[in-house]
Amino acid sequence: MADHVCPPWVGYLLLNPLRKLTESPRKLFSPFVREDMVVLEPGCAMGFFTLPLARMVGPTGKVVALDTQPKMLSVLERRARRAGIRDLLDIREVGTKGLGIDDLSGRVDFCAVIHVAHEVSDQTAFFADLARAQKPGGRLLIIEPKGHVSTSDFARTLACAEEAGFRPETSPVINGDRRALLVR
Ligand SMILES: C[S@@+](CC[C@H](N)C(=O)[O-])C[C@H]1O[C@@H](n2cnc3c(N)ncnc32)[C@H](O)[C@@H]1O
Repeated sequence: MADHVCPPWVGYLLLNPLRKLTESPRKLFSPFVREDMVVLEPGCAMGFFTLPLARMVGPTGKVVALDTQPKMLSVLERRARRAGIRDLLDIREVGTKGLGIDDLSGRVDFCAVIHVAHEVSDQTAFFADLARAQKPGGRLLIIEPKGHVSTSDFARTLACAEEAGFRPETSPVINGDRRALLVR
């Protein structure tokens, strides 16, 4: 499915504060994310969602932020330091052939996969890694951009997540952004 990976210059554009009008991190996550939680965010890029997630889990929680591109992660790290919340993040560079997150097995309360799945070359392996990391009952939020992802591609993404052991909690919205909430 993946033939394109978001370049760093787009990473900067994704930090545009106007994005909050359509994808407010607080509105998206407040039903699911609480203080003290462990949150996993694969494909975090420069951290449009990562920093708000870190503030939501607070000093007793953790956000594990993963990306394949070092440039995305170095900008995220700088932004987190400036915001004084670097300690709330566990920032990791991952390979495209597996997330290497065995140490998180059964520890993740909430996972956010936002505008990422269409860039992942092996979605079966990707969602299997996430399923192993997630606590039973933990939620997975998947959002994909309508512009890049057809309804059938989104259905295939959801099928990979279900095959890995997630079950859908909401029906996917297919006329706006493709969104689905799943539970482990
Ligand atoms: C379009 S950006 C979205 C960034 C962020 N989630 C947001 O919405 O602002 C997709 C990011 O996913 C990363 N990515 C692509 N494949 C990945 C993989 N297999 N594992 C982790 N990150 C990946 C890319 O490097 C890129 O930074």
